[in-house]
This record gives sequence, structure tokens and C-alpha cells, in this order.
Amino acid sequence: MPLVPSYIQKLANYVPGKPIEELQRETGISDIIKLASNENSLGPSPRAMAAMKLAMGSIYRYPDANGFLIRKKLAEKFNVQINNVVIGAGSEGIISTILRTFLLNEDEIITAKGSFIGFKVLANASGKKVHWVPMKNHRYDLETMAEKINDYTKLIYIANPDNPMGTYITREEFDSFYAHIPERVLIILDEAYYEFANSIHDYPDSMTYRYDNVITLRSFSKAYGLAGARIGYGFAHDKLIGNLMKVKVPFEPSYLSQVAGYAALDDTPFLNNTIKLNQSSMGYMIKEMEKLNIQFVPSITNFITTIWDSEDKAISITKQLLEKGVIVRHLNPFGWNNCIRVSFGLKEENQRFIAAITEIL
Ligand SMILES: Cc1ncc(COP(=O)(O)O)c(C=O)c1O
Repeated sequence: MPLVPSYIQKLANYVPGKPIEELQRETGISDIIKLASNENSLGPSPRAMAAMKLAMGSIYRYPDANGFLIRKKLAEKFNVQINNVVIGAGSEGIISTILRTFLLNEDEIITAKGSFIGFKVLANASGKKVHWVPMKNHRYDLETMAEKINDYTKLIYIANPDNPMGTYITREEFDSFYAHIPERVLIILDEAYYEFANSIHDYPDSMTYRYDNVITLRSFSKAYGLAGARIGYGFAHDKLIGNLMKVKVPFEPSYLSQVAGYAALDDTPFLNNTIKLNQSSMGYMIKEMEKLNIQFVPSITNFITTIWDSEDKAISITKQLLEKGVIVRHLNPFGWNNCIRVSFGLKEENQRFIAAITEIL
């Protein structure tokens, strides 16, 4: 028996967006901006920060493994029972728990090719068979995904909106897809960008789909600015949640993360500012990119994916932007070799990106 299973040996290391400090060391540039990881450019929720500072003196104790306070608060906010709420170290942490909890020997997974890379990493590490269904027009192809369902299908993963494409499936599309799904098949609806997307009229808020086999995932990493704290949450039928709570790493999320998430939920002014800034960034970036004839995929998130003639062109643009101190994400690791994803920043950061790309072009 090999020490390392072959499906683990085959995994590639996860390549994140380049950290600012690394580029600083490499180039000597001091005013670097990072528009590469869809973070909140306004920083963390101030209420979350204040709550974490106050809570510092208690970190010698283990956190509440059941996350009672924050789960209760989420249950109240979203009008469900605490037994319908799970928390984890980011929504990725919950995805990992879901895969460990529900997948048996022959079980199979269906998802879109080129969607969220965090899911790809975890699905490949599970060793299960995954059907990677190519997208159509940069959108999930739900019809083909439904056709892939067989006796072994256990899990379907949908990022809605998708990262890195920023596109979404509509309520109508989900409804007709759902009609094809056997009850034994679990569907993850990953809504990490929900707060940016939910004002779109035909975007399906999956909280209205409280079916027994649908798991909704949400994140504090984006709209609440807590990516580094690692906390996310999810909603599902209590039977699913009960088992997830048995399997999750007991003391995740950390004490400070739970405190931060709890406080962030009350930070409506911050959330509103974030959404407002995002709307104006979207308007500005689209307008400027159109002027420059840059091709992009229409997005309902806090980032936009640009399309270039070739992989070489995308690599060269990414490199030249780096030389000007602007970090963006070439989407090679996602399988979109000729695409570059640009996260929205502060007004000045967006302007700096546009100035830099204008010079390059
Ligand atoms: C679609 C999607 N899901 C989940 C995540 C990860 O969220 P978290 O930080 O809560 O693990 C991201 C982050 O980029 C994402 O784009």
C-alpha cells in the first residue's frame, strides 16, 4: 500500500493571489495594490474589530465548539432554527466538512469546470469521482449537469454567483434544474457573494429553497471583510446540520472569529457602505473597460473577469500590471488561461488599475 494515495499525490499546490509583501520584496515598489482575491477593500467591519479587541483577554480558553451565540443570532436573522445553522472556518471549512460527512465509497460529485478553485481542491482531495461539466457562455450549464446524474451521484456543487466568472443562475433556471434532482442528491449552493448579488431581480436567494437536500453556504470573508478571520456559515435541514456538527473540527471557527462574525452581523452601516462602494466600482470599471475595448464577463459580484486574445497576452498583461504594483489574478489555475480576474478596490485603487492598464495597452 502506498503511503500517500495516488489522488493526493496528483494534487497541485494551491496558488493564491500574490501577497503584497512578496511583490514588495521582489520589485522594491512600496505602494502596491492588491486586486486579486475578492477581499473587501474597505477593510474589516469596524464592529467586528472592536469586538475582537475586547475579546482578546479570553483567548486562553477554547471557543464554544457548538458556536451557540453566533448560530442563534444567524438563526434569528434568517428566520430558521439554530439546528438549521452550521458554522465553519470559512465557507471552505464547511465544504470540507460536507465532503467528509456525506461522501461514501462510490459516491460521485457533479460541478462546473473552471468554477471555484477552493471546491476543486477539496473535491480532488476527497478521491471521489468528479464530473467537471464545462460552462456555457461562462455560466453553469445546468442542463448538462442534470444529464450527468447517475445512481452514484451524491453531491452537486453550484457557486452562485460563480467565482471566477461572476455570472449567476437565475431562479427559473434553478427551479427547472431542481425538478431533475433526486432527493438523495445533496446540492450545495455556495453564496459567498450573496450580499452583492441579492439585489438582482432574478437572482435566487437560496434561503427560499429550504428543501431537505439543499445546503446554503455564506461567508464573512467578502462583504463583512473578515477573510483572514476564517468564518463562514451555512443553512440546511436539521438532519444534515446535526451530522455536519458531529464531523466539523470541534473548535473551529476560533473564538475571535466567532466574536467577529457575531459583531459583524450588526454592522449594517459597514455592509451598506461596502455594497454602495461595490456598485460604484462596478459602474466605473465597466465604463472604463468599455472605453478601452477590454472584453469582460458581466458580473454581479465584487470582481470582474477580463478576457484576452491568448494565454500569452494574459500572462504578459498580468506581469506588466505587477511591474506597476497592481496585483490581479491570472486565471490559469482555474483553467481559464486567457482570462484575468480583477477584484474591485477603493475608488483610488480602481483608478490606479485603469491608469496602469491604459498605459500597458
Ligand atoms: C465561490 C466562493 N466560495 C467560497 C469562497 C471562500 O469563502 P471563505 O473565505 O468563507 O472560505 C470563495 C472565496 O473566494 C468563493 O469565491
